[in-house]
Amino acid sequence: MIQSALTEPIDETIPPKYDRCKNHDVVISPGGTILIIEDSNTQARIIEESLKELPLQIHCTGSGHEALEWLKVNKAVLLLLDYELPDMKGIEIIDELARQGQYLEFLVMTARGSETVAVQMMKRGAVDYLIKDDTFTSLLPTIVERALKKIKSEQILEIAQNALKQAEKRTRLIIDSAADGFISMWDDGTILDWNKAAERIFGWSYKDAIEKNLIDMMMPEKHREAFKDKLFELRNEDHSLTQNKLIEATALNKSGQEFPIEISASSASEGEPCVLNAFIRDISNRHMLESQLIQSEKLASLGQLAAGVAHEINNPVGFVKSNVGTLCEYVDIFTQLLSLYEELSQAIRSGDKSQQDQLFKQIQTVREEEDLTDILEDVKELLTESTDGLIRVTEIVQNLKSFARLDEASIKEANINDGITATMKVVWNELKYKSEIVTDLGEIPDIRCSPGQLNQVFMNLLVNAAQAIPERGTISIKTEATDSEIIISISDTGVGIPEQELSQIFTPFYTTKPVGQGTGLGLSIIYGIIQKHNGNISVESEVGTGTKFTIRLPLEGMSA
Ligand SMILES: Nc1ncnc2c1ncn2[C@@H]1O[C@H](COP(=O)(O)OP(=O)(O)OP(=O)(O)O)[C@@H](O)[C@H]1O
Ligand SMILES: [Mg+2]
Repeated sequence: MIQSALTEPIDETIPPKYDRCKNHDVVISPGGTILIIEDSNTQARIIEESLKELPLQIHCTGSGHEALEWLKVNKAVLLLLDYELPDMKGIEIIDELARQGQYLEFLVMTARGSETVAVQMMKRGAVDYLIKDDTFTSLLPTIVERALKKIKSEQILEIAQNALKQAEKRTRLIIDSAADGFISMWDDGTILDWNKAAERIFGWSYKDAIEKNLIDMMMPEKHREAFKDKLFELRNEDHSLTQNKLIEATALNKSGQEFPIEISASSASEGEPCVLNAFIRDISNRHMLESQLIQSEKLASLGQLAAGVAHEINNPVGFVKSNVGTLCEYVDIFTQLLSLYEELSQAIRSGDKSQQDQLFKQIQTVREEEDLTDILEDVKELLTESTDGLIRVTEIVQNLKSFARLDEASIKEANINDGITATMKVVWNELKYKSEIVTDLGEIPDIRCSPGQLNQVFMNLLVNAAQAIPERGTISIKTEATDSEIIISISDTGVGIPEQELSQIFTPFYTTKPVGQGTGLGLSIIYGIIQKHNGNISVESEVGTGTKFTIRLPLEGMSA
């Protein structure tokens, strides 16, 4: 009777001595070799004969030592091992192979009565055991085939497990070498995974962070609720690895310092609770650069403003100066006449007739040379013109002052229409040669805003509009209020923006203007300012027809 241990349970309390997983380089393929270790030549021949249909080569050895020698230079996919050999026991061969680092699959053949030994060999890792009786060779091919199949599937499993381990190792390596922090967490913020960059960013080690709550441990208290809501929104999103959401938040590091972070997060599983994967980036530097950019743009617009204002003031100051020059000449004539009249009055008092005649003649000559009526007319005109010029200068200075006052960073209740009017006056010089300005400023309530920053928005939009008009056109400014928002639109009849460029115009440094004329920062700064006001800005444009920017600001204004 053939007995096979394949169906019998192995005693799990005794660990298999041989780690057969290490032998995975011999996934069985046609052409592999079975080594028969059998001291009886006749038995060996019978076994060999019974297996000849299998697509494998067969090699026979008659002793343990011979087998060990053969295995030093050859490979076998399976050993058919007679337990009792003249020079050594089957178990010793297996132990010796293990010492040499070879963990081969083996099938034990024992004489009846040695089952206990065979079971021990099973514990050593034998694939099966056979009791040698009269009929065992007839069933041997099936048993060997089954054993080979078992080995093959174990080896495939082992290769798959190794591949999986390798993939996990690679993923770990990628995650740990990422410059961004990686956090895997339940949707309530409980941390499941935490990479090296996350350790660097937050200051907490993997051990400190695992199973802790990201929100409670690494978010300042006042931002926790808002962040929880954002995570909750993510949970409601469809499960898809492609839809990463960008969230900006304020985080807290181990030393209690707050810093801005950007989180790119997505849900990694469905159902509740779900797993969220997030890449975290410390954006302190970016924030610093952004504020530097805003400063440099402010300086650039101040420069632009200063140039415009200088031109505006230069003009009236120029003609007031020339008028004053002419008035000085007139004053000289009147001074000359006055002194002649003074001398004449003295000559009349002294009764000196000839001197009277002479002075009279001199006065006549001066009056003939200078048309005093015209001069008097001119003096009046020059004085009116100069007064107008000085009023204009005063106005410009006042506009500048109101623009500058609004340029404070402070947040206050202000009316957008006032800001637009002040800004228009300041950039008037840029606009007047290019365009007719049509304003339709509606009844709008005051809102909580940063008036200075909004003025910068209007100024940039107006300057862009004027620069987009090649010769002459129209710039229209409209404001209106709805129940919930104030809508401001600034449109021009300029060259327009091609559709494919529309998506880029808010990108920092995107400009189509020649070097020195545009920095490409105007619209990106506008975008930031409008976002800070919880509003939005949109653009419609048609090449050759013009462009319209629409800003929507909520009536509740900026948050406190
Ligand atoms: N009203 C407009 N009509 C046509 N194109 C416009 C208009 N406004 C902006 N653009 C396009 O968008 C680009 C970016 O504008 P943005 O204000 O950001 O920078 P810029 O005007 O080029 O330079 P800067 O404002 O820094 O001096 C412009 O170069 C221009 O191509
Ligand atoms: Mg611009």
